[in-house]
Amino acid sequence: MSLAAADYAHEVNVNVSNLFSLEGEKAIIVGGGSGIGKATATLFSEAGADVAIADINVDSAREASAELSALGSRSLAVQVDVADPISVGKMVETVLTEFECVDILVNSAGINRRIPAENLEETDWDAVVDINLKGTFLTCQHVGRHMIGQKSGKIINLASMSGLVTNKGKTNTVYCSSKGGVIMLTKSLAVEWARHNIRVNAIAPGYVKTPLTRAWMEDPVASKPTLDLIPLGRFCETTEIASSALYLAARASSYLTGSILIVDGGYTCY
Ligand SMILES: NC(=O)c1ccc[n+]([C@@H]2O[C@H](COP(=O)([O-])OP(=O)(O)OC[C@H]3O[C@@H](n4cnc5c(N)ncnc54)[C@H](O)[C@@H]3O)[C@@H](O)[C@H]2O)c1
Repeated sequence: MSLAAADYAHEVNVNVSNLFSLEGEKAIIVGGGSGIGKATATLFSEAGADVAIADINVDSAREASAELSALGSRSLAVQVDVADPISVGKMVETVLTEFECVDILVNSAGINRRIPAENLEETDWDAVVDINLKGTFLTCQHVGRHMIGQKSGKIINLASMSGLVTNKGKTNTVYCSSKGGVIMLTKSLAVEWARHNIRVNAIAPGYVKTPLTRAWMEDPVASKPTLDLIPLGRFCETTEIASSALYLAARASSYLTGSILIVDGGYTCY
């Protein structure tokens, strides 16, 4: 269980280990079957947390969970469609039955439709907004009700730098709109739930290597125009987003709420 606000004020035994430890904490990683979510589940597990991996792709959730169990961690795989409130409710109930409480929620489920705005169908708009924005709200709401009851919790939403700036050369209108929404959702919940000792923060990643993007990112010709826009001159690894999520989940970030941590190699500096 996380420390109550009053405990922080009297905390004297602060050291590197306990600033970044998740020992004894229970986490749900939504979208944890792949990419950033999977890397975060692995790191949280190494930091001592019990981790529930919730994903629409139950096979990938089971596979990720089995990998954590093989390393000796307590883990659970649950299917969820974040766009469906009934499914979200059932997922949270399943995790609570197994873990009894939830200290940390990471929202990493997300999709994109790279279609020029003039050709974007209403169904494409709805699919992206339903998963990226409404889905993030629904999981926050269902887990948040539990966190309000226990008077503590940490929520980390995967926004994107595309919620702050547009992606040069890409047709990302609905994705950018949804991620801008996630940023304001994060700030709004941070303010509403601060009195319940719930911290709500977001990460705004730049271009991250995942199974789907790795091929073009490792192709020197195809990736050059995008790489030229990144001051650090390289793409991000999923583990570099996972370590930011660990910071936001751990005691090290105890005074952060409503923050948007930009992890983009400098892309948004221009
Ligand atoms: N990869 C990047 O470059 C990048 C950059 C900025 C932000 N992000 C954001 O980070 C998050 C994770 O991205 P990723 O690259 O790891 O993606 P990913 O595709 O590797 O993983 C996303 C996971 O979400 C799951 N998912 C999709 N729809 C779902 C639904 N309806 N219900 C439950 N689960 C669902 C998928 O099955 C998948 O396991 C997303 O929100 C994405 O928008 C990614």
